[in-house]
Amino acid sequence: MSPEPELRKLITGEQIAATVSRLATEIRRDYRDKNPLLIGVLKGSFMFLADLARQLDFPLEIEFVQISSYGGGTESSGAVKMAPGALPKIKGRHVLVVEDIIDTGLTAAFLLDYLGRKKPASLKLCSLTDKVERRRVLVNIGYRGLAVPDKFIVGYGLDCDEKYRNLPDIYVLEQ
Ligand code: IMP
Ligand code: MG
Repeated sequence: MSPEPELRKLITGEQIAATVSRLATEIRRDYRDKNPLLIGVLKGSFMFLADLARQLDFPLEIEFVQISSYGGGTESSGAVKMAPGALPKIKGRHVLVVEDIIDTGLTAAFLLDYLGRKKPASLKLCSLTDKVERRRVLVNIGYRGLAVPDKFIVGYGLDCDEKYRNLPDIYVLEQ
């Protein structure tokens, strides 16, 4: 039997809230009159997008895509999968992709490339966290929350095998 994983608090709910407010201020400034399309990457971004969107006091639309480079566990498979689903017309829209974390960058690079081919008016990425040491492909994070160490983190939408998404703080999972 492997021992129960331990959770060590890394980012408090207050720090998350301050970061969401800072990002919302930047996004309000840039998108107020653009009726942007926010695209949340499921499932990890659901809580961040819900909090962020409540601070955006102008017309916008919200969609989700399910895409990931992770299987179960904590290591990237390297392969990016996207569940086929209907997205509205991207052409001519101001698109903002909303992520929980950028790790290797493979997921974001894949999605930005996919969306970029559909000729949006603009295309940017917002991520709550950035595991910068692990990057394998270059991605430009237009709205970047907090840098995090090269550890597996859970909480505030982030999971390990579908657990811990509901935690209001972010923790390092010590295994
Ligand atoms: P990337 O393609 O390697 O950048 O991985 C991005 C996706 O992997 C994120 O959207 C998360 O869903 C997942 N991921 C990466 N690092 C972590 C972590 O530390 N905790 C939970 N999920 C993670
Ligand atoms: Mg994700």
